[in-house]
Amino acid sequence: MSLLNSQYPVQLAHNAQVIKGRAIGDRQLAVLNAEGFEVAKGEISRWPGYAVTPLCELDRAADQLALGGIWYKDEAGRFGLGSFKALGGAYAVARLLKRELVARGVCAAVPSTEELLSGQYAEALKAIVVTCATDGNHGRSVAWGCQLFGCGCVIYIHATVSEGRRAAIAAYGAEVVRVPGNYDDAVRQAAADAAELGRFVVSDTSYPGYMEVPRDVMQGYTLMAQEAFEQLPEGVKPTHIFLQGGVGGLAAAVVAQAWLHYGAERPHCVVVEPDLAACLYESAKQGAPTVVEGDLDTLMAGLACGEVSLLAWEVLSEGASDFMTVTDQAAVDCMRLMANGALCSERPVVAGESAVAGLAGVILAAQQPSLREALGLDENSQVLLIGSEGATDPELYTELVGRSAEAVERGE
Ligand SMILES: Cc1ncc(COP(=O)(O)O)c(C=O)c1O
Repeated sequence: MSLLNSQYPVQLAHNAQVIKGRAIGDRQLAVLNAEGFEVAKGEISRWPGYAVTPLCELDRAADQLALGGIWYKDEAGRFGLGSFKALGGAYAVARLLKRELVARGVCAAVPSTEELLSGQYAEALKAIVVTCATDGNHGRSVAWGCQLFGCGCVIYIHATVSEGRRAAIAAYGAEVVRVPGNYDDAVRQAAADAAELGRFVVSDTSYPGYMEVPRDVMQGYTLMAQEAFEQLPEGVKPTHIFLQGGVGGLAAAVVAQAWLHYGAERPHCVVVEPDLAACLYESAKQGAPTVVEGDLDTLMAGLACGEVSLLAWEVLSEGASDFMTVTDQAAVDCMRLMANGALCSERPVVAGESAVAGLAGVILAAQQPSLREALGLDENSQVLLIGSEGATDPELYTELVGRSAEAVERGE
């Protein structure tokens, strides 16, 4: 029996521009590089609560799909925030505050992490207001970072962001503003208000004239990728990485870090998106960043993006081999399979809606002979996945899986 219904629609586009068999190039290094990684690691690993997240072996899934191994980096526990995003937004906030303290003459030299956290700059930090638009997780990370470092915070959400996600952001002391329209409308509103009110935008997506902060966000994510590479058992090198895409920042960070770490013989990287919000897939087909219109109303809220991040595209346009789309139903089935212990013999895994797009992609591809062949999947393949969130919207998780995340963790 198949793990997922083989009738579920899948689209696959090979990226004709992908570079294989060569070390990472200047175009990618201008975005993410080894020095940036070391700085990010030095900062984030000093924050209270830093811990390497688990890498789960999805042994049952690999057996069923006749693959060599499937490895799932479970980000549900990252800094108690529920998603990998804790690494990006909060890191960019820290970098921005350090720069701003120097620019305002509060510090003569860039303060250390310990100095930033010490409370000695409390007054100056309170006067700095950070803002962003979010579908939930990024805003939560930014709000958490602002609370951790003690600056002001205003977060914008769009019409369909759930009440649970709104409350999770507000819990970190941020002012939350709901605006009509989709994610991209919220991005524009946050930017316009920031320009008027002198706030600092910490966006996870880049656009012309706005590159430095989103580059920091992506550089923060690379820590997670490096952790995963180092957690794989000795002798296991990923042949494939399936990565879910929203604006592409997560995927670009993992692709770049894999390219740096494994060099010319790097894994085959596949970007997977919801069919209802497939801006990266469309961009790959067109060979250039392409906007997807509409309400982007996918259940995979973290992936509901219609415009690619230009910086992410710098990495993905030559770094990702293939782009795929999957349906919401495939993602929901994957959440249940993970919760039921059908994929991993060690424990049930709590995986949120946006965490499983990559998993859905590899299952559907491995089940279908033509896709399996197109992607070079076989019994020797070692597949790495990023489980980018746990139950970040607990009510929705319970509704979709049929029991709460706590019950799943207890093995009920
Ligand atoms: C849980 C989760 N996974 C993946 C992504 C996609 O990341 P990106 O927008 O950088 O592609 C997001 C983005 O918000 C997310 O929240």
